[in-house]
Amino acid sequence: MLRIVTLVSGGGTNLQAVIDAVENGTIKDAQIVKVISNKADAYALERAAKHGIGAQAVVKKDFPDREAFNDALIAAVDEAAPDLIVLAGFLVVLPVKMIEKYRGRIINIHPSLIPSFCGNGFYGLKVHEAALARGVKVTGATVHFVDEGTDTGPIIAQKAVEVLEGDTPEVLQKRVMEQAEWIILPGVIRDIACGKILIGGEK
Ligand code: GRF
Repeated sequence: MLRIVTLVSGGGTNLQAVIDAVENGTIKDAQIVKVISNKADAYALERAAKHGIGAQAVVKKDFPDREAFNDALIAAVDEAAPDLIVLAGFLVVLPVKMIEKYRGRIINIHPSLIPSFCGNGFYGLKVHEAALARGVKVTGATVHFVDEGTDTGPIIAQKAVEVLEGDTPEVLQKRVMEQAEWIILPGVIRDIACGKILIGGEK
């Protein structure tokens, strides 16, 4: 049984897609054992609670410094003994210690076709604003392994989405979520849970 910890910061629609996929059997042999957010009011935490999944907030302002926050975040993850850590809209830079400890076992969903529109400053609506400003005709989403960089780890899956005439950032964001993010993130987790995708140095 693949033990999954999900890190979130916002609405949790990607988390919800994974919860639904586990509950409807699309994802087999996996369990979301804990959801952790850096925001105490993240709706993603309510989504977890509604589905009987342990939810915990680890909030920077509750700690004297960044190192204490990082240590608390790592402890919260370690306590759940995850096989896989899923970043689903998590807007905090992970501690290097966590990346080293869970190398090859942390994945992230990014709302563009990496290497376009990614890296520092490219998150949420900003990604779609940049895509529209550049005038791309196709965008999409990417699931990748997390390394010490920002959106720089090995790409696992991508799905393209058409940009339509008159798209606003909000409209494009919704289409990318519905037609790409909410499909490829559960799909990658399904493939990890059944061994089709190997993680963490598995042979
Ligand atoms: C999504 O667009 C995701 O690609 C990005 O942050 C957003 C999170 O949305 N990383 P949600 O919290 O999953 O609804």
